Amino acid sequence: MPLDIDKLRLDFPILAQTVNGQPLVYLDNAATTQKPQAVLDALNHYYQGQNANVHRAAHALSGQATQAFEAARAKVADFIHAPDARQVIWTRGATEAINLVALSFGMQKLKAGDEILLSAMEHHANIVPWQQVAAATGAVIKVIPLTDNAELDMTAAANLFSSRTKLLAISHVSNALGVLNPVQTLIAMAKAVGAVTLIDGAQAVGHLSVDVQALDCDFYVFSGHKMFGPTGIGVLYGKRALLEAMPPWQTGGEMIKYVSFEHTRFGELPFKFEAGTPNIAGAIGLGAAIDYLSALDRCALAAHEHQLMLQLLAGLSALPEVRIIGRPTAGAVSFIIDDVHPQDVATLLDMQGIAVRTGHHCAMPLMQALDLQQGTLRASIAFYNHAQDIDALLLGLKKSREFF
Ligand code: ALA
Repeated sequence: MPLDIDKLRLDFPILAQTVNGQPLVYLDNAATTQKPQAVLDALNHYYQGQNANVHRAAHALSGQATQAFEAARAKVADFIHAPDARQVIWTRGATEAINLVALSFGMQKLKAGDEILLSAMEHHANIVPWQQVAAATGAVIKVIPLTDNAELDMTAAANLFSSRTKLLAISHVSNALGVLNPVQTLIAMAKAVGAVTLIDGAQAVGHLSVDVQALDCDFYVFSGHKMFGPTGIGVLYGKRALLEAMPPWQTGGEMIKYVSFEHTRFGELPFKFEAGTPNIAGAIGLGAAIDYLSALDRCALAAHEHQLMLQLLAGLSALPEVRIIGRPTAGAVSFIIDDVHPQDVATLLDMQGIAVRTGHHCAMPLMQALDLQQGTLRASIAFYNHAQDIDALLLGLKKSREFF
């Protein structure tokens, strides 16, 4: 059955509005995705009928909230093919999940001279926590450079791995360039030298089917709001033995088994990493997003997104003043326009109801490597975008050009 995108769009009430008097053209999906009615309903249902704290009280609502909260964890485990829901740790998002690994694993296990391998296209969230670890432990950060096509230089990568490499932390899909990285190959290279691997899947989970066992990564992190779920909820998946061996990173209620003034015994996985009242509604909302996605034909969604990407790349390539950065393949396309500041173009697009992002996209080292001092314009798609959105952007760019 061919996808009926216009019908799917009705699931996302926000898309039906006008912005600055024009139909909304939402092409900022890499920053955050819109939420289907099913997610909004799940949040409402929880707060209207089930709101209670989890794992604590002996009453019916608490039981219902706990059941819904843990069911959401099981849905995440299925969604990424984790062997056990106890390997799914709730966090505020991908950033917090990376910080958890940096503080609990990095600070404890890394020592002076150990190497942390990142890439030149990482988001700040996958750079700064490791800088903190390096500063505290004496570990050294190494960076996989880019080729002339703004892809990871795999020859250089192969030369950077050594017995000193203790951790590879790398994005699955670049938020700034929309490049799908060869993570499977990099994970295999890391394994060959005994390094632990962390994959930042924030920009992948909304576009690709992710199988953490097939990837064989040690950690995989992502945010709910980039896959049609609520903000403030995210996931750390980890291999069980590693998670078991890692100490808690935050302490307090929920994560303990026994407390006295002399001694505390910590809870089991996953609770030992979840101090305090969790984002219960967020987890349930993310579970609803997974239900929603799982009921769709994800291959068909990916094929539709691919078509949009081809349409966008062809349209941009036909505009002589536009330069596409790199070779985007998933979700986002970054580009610049000769002699015009990206923010000026974005303002004119916004006046036409078109939402894109500009700037360094939380990837300043990438912009430095590409010598893009003013950053880029970035259009990023989701499956609910349709061909008219791309047409509107291309027309909007032509109009903007006439203005300058
Ligand atoms: N990391 C998000 C983005 O790329 C916010 O826009």
